[in-house]
Amino acid sequence: MSLQDFLSSLDGLVADAADAFQAATDTDSLEEARVRFLGQKSGALRDIQKQMGSIEASDRKTAGMRLNQTKNAIQTAFGEAKDRLGQADQGGIDPTFDPSLPGVRPELGHVHPITQTIEHLMEIMGRMGFEAAEGPEVEDPWHNFVALNIPEDHPARDPLDNFYLATASKGADLGGEGSQLLRSQTSTVQIRVMENRQPPIRVISLGRVYRPDAPDATHFPMFHQMEGLFVDRHVTMANLKTVLRVFAENYLGTDVDIRFRPSFFPFTEPSVEVDFYWNGTWVEFGGAGMVDPNVFEAVGYDPEQYSGFAFGLGVERLCMRRHGITDIRDLYSGDLRFLRQF
Ligand code: PHE
Repeated sequence: MSLQDFLSSLDGLVADAADAFQAATDTDSLEEARVRFLGQKSGALRDIQKQMGSIEASDRKTAGMRLNQTKNAIQTAFGEAKDRLGQADQGGIDPTFDPSLPGVRPELGHVHPITQTIEHLMEIMGRMGFEAAEGPEVEDPWHNFVALNIPEDHPARDPLDNFYLATASKGADLGGEGSQLLRSQTSTVQIRVMENRQPPIRVISLGRVYRPDAPDATHFPMFHQMEGLFVDRHVTMANLKTVLRVFAENYLGTDVDIRFRPSFFPFTEPSVEVDFYWNGTWVEFGGAGMVDPNVFEAVGYDPEQYSGFAFGLGVERLCMRRHGITDIRDLYSGDLRFLRQF
């Protein structure tokens, strides 16, 4: 091969390679063009290099120099094409992307304020030796009323004051033996625990209760209670007051006072309303009393041997007082602006 032919095929190669690199629209097609021109085994440049042997010995030096220049030129063209595609790739993802903007904080869920309160209450009562017990939210009249000394004709059993379940009422009469209702108080769990265990008993039960109240700032048809039950020999009203005082001091703060007002519940005798004094006012938090002997008899305990106290406090009221919440509906509106504060 003459030097002249050799050099002109080198020139043609540079032009062809530059065109091919220019035409590449993505990294795959660019790579394919690179292999075609610069590939070690069968690239076009390699093929021309093989012709070197057929060139006149005196011309070989010149041919070698031009071959190197050609190789450099093709490599430079490849590098430029690669840069061009790299930049287009970045811009192609999102041309409006601004890396200097502050990041978007990932949304993390968190525990509802009532659940937080329940966990806190369990922790405080746990330190006083009360273990948590649970019962079903759909109850029968025995656990919600009868065993709690609430007889058939008692106004608390009125269908207007309870959520009886329609399915159960088809055959049975509403409120009668075979009916079912959403429990109206957690005192049901007292019965369930005593039916299954012997004293001494020290339990709390935290859960939902249901009453057909129209919602307003202090009422909601579903709310939570913390029920407490302590049964042993020689349990007194003084024990009740001490437990509630220690509880209130732990939950609300040391400057809390407690007061009992005489009241009536069918399942306790005597019965009291429980008030806590905090931040300048007395607030009623629930009811309490000494377990009525009729309740002990209903679960098969001997009232001559055992005595006990029970209490039921409103969880929403505790939570609201502690956090300065003024409307119970805020807790159940699902409004994130409210919930995010806890
Ligand atoms: N169950 C009562 C209520 O819902 C509260 C209570 C519980 C009273 C235990 C006395 C003893 O109002």
